[in-house]
Amino acid sequence: MLKIENNVLYIENKSTMDLVQEYGTPLYVYSEKKIIEKINEIKKAFTLKYPNTHAAYACKAFCTPYICQLLEREGFWLDVVSGGELYTALRSKFPRERIEFNGNNKSKEELVMALENNIGRIVVDNVAELYALNKLCKELEQKTEILFRITPGVMSDTHDFITTGKKDSKFGIPLDNDIILPAIQYAIQSEYLKFLGFHFHVGSQLQNIDAHLSALEVVLNLIQVTRERFNYEINDFNMGGGFGIRYTDEDFPLGLSQFVDPIMERLINFCNKNSLRIPHVSMEPGRFLVGEAGVQLYRVGNIKIIPGVRKYVSVDGGMTDNIRPGLYGAKYDAIVANKVSENRTELVSVCGKCCESTDILIKELKCPVIEAGDVLAVLSTGAYGYSMANNYNKLPIPAVVVVNDYDSKLIVKRQSYEQMSINEIVEF
Ligand SMILES: Cc1ncc(COP(=O)(O)O)c(C=O)c1O
Repeated sequence: MLKIENNVLYIENKSTMDLVQEYGTPLYVYSEKKIIEKINEIKKAFTLKYPNTHAAYACKAFCTPYICQLLEREGFWLDVVSGGELYTALRSKFPRERIEFNGNNKSKEELVMALENNIGRIVVDNVAELYALNKLCKELEQKTEILFRITPGVMSDTHDFITTGKKDSKFGIPLDNDIILPAIQYAIQSEYLKFLGFHFHVGSQLQNIDAHLSALEVVLNLIQVTRERFNYEINDFNMGGGFGIRYTDEDFPLGLSQFVDPIMERLINFCNKNSLRIPHVSMEPGRFLVGEAGVQLYRVGNIKIIPGVRKYVSVDGGMTDNIRPGLYGAKYDAIVANKVSENRTELVSVCGKCCESTDILIKELKCPVIEAGDVLAVLSTGAYGYSMANNYNKLPIPAVVVVNDYDSKLIVKRQSYEQMSINEIVEF
């Protein structure tokens, strides 16, 4: 996806110098080829390899009509977690029956929106939601298909802020017998809810399969208990997302098959051994699909050298367009896009322009001698960058561009000061 020509970084066949000239900085850029490569990896390792499966893109990673439309064409489902994401999907004409709705606090309005639009399924996150959804379906005289997100009580080997499967988590239904069993019974007996099965999501940016396999054992046990206690066969199992990607040299992500094969093998063996129907299996990757396809381009501004301490390189964006380093210490690598072939002789800290000391994008970057006016390309920024962007310090949200071979197209316009302020009332 990246190449070098005359000391300049290219994304596919498009020069980053041309991109910044045409669209300005800061700029989110995606390689379409890379996204499609990841889509194909998922098909090869999962949906085409195993029958009765589907992959839903967790659109929280990057939610725009462009990606919804691309994934629609590729036959994917979409996982949404809010009315806003659902609105984006519907506006993009994403097929409703291929949308699933996650989230631990869906409002009544969001559930009504989901029901009125007849979306594919709702992943019920807690018992309160189960009762509220049943009541709502009764009021609207409508049925819906549901899964239970469970809290499998497993620890995942990732940053504590992006682990979700441990017992003490805001997500999912706890496995205490007096909570989960009545909930299953209630869902099975409901006139309005069709209980499909179980869902877990154990954490993000995972680089081993331990948490998934431990959580799977919990689900297998639940499938068996559901049949023994309630004479009910589970139809569906969703393994969530969380498959890690490469941000820096410190990351060693697994190939997708290394996650999928052991999970499928264990599931199929268990079902065969216990004469259970093999359920429909789904997954919900977010970062895996778009993370490595994204590059953020910034213009270098002021440079501050503290003798004997550090060289600070300021760029024209920061924690407003990529909050992950400030939020939970996420690490990135970067390239000086107009000096790609030069020796990396300096060690610098790349900081944003926000009024926060934590606005450091890269604590230690090895790069060529870097000067004001250079263009910095931060790599693997396709997930949770644009989607977490905010207007702190009243910085407008950057434009988003997709490159395909020699072409580029604008998919999100740069926000103007006027657009940023449109809801703020001036005269009282
Ligand atoms: C329920 C659920 N599914 C899928 C995902 C996607 O995770 P990732 O982007 O790490 O694949 C998340 C991320 O928070 C999630 O909470």
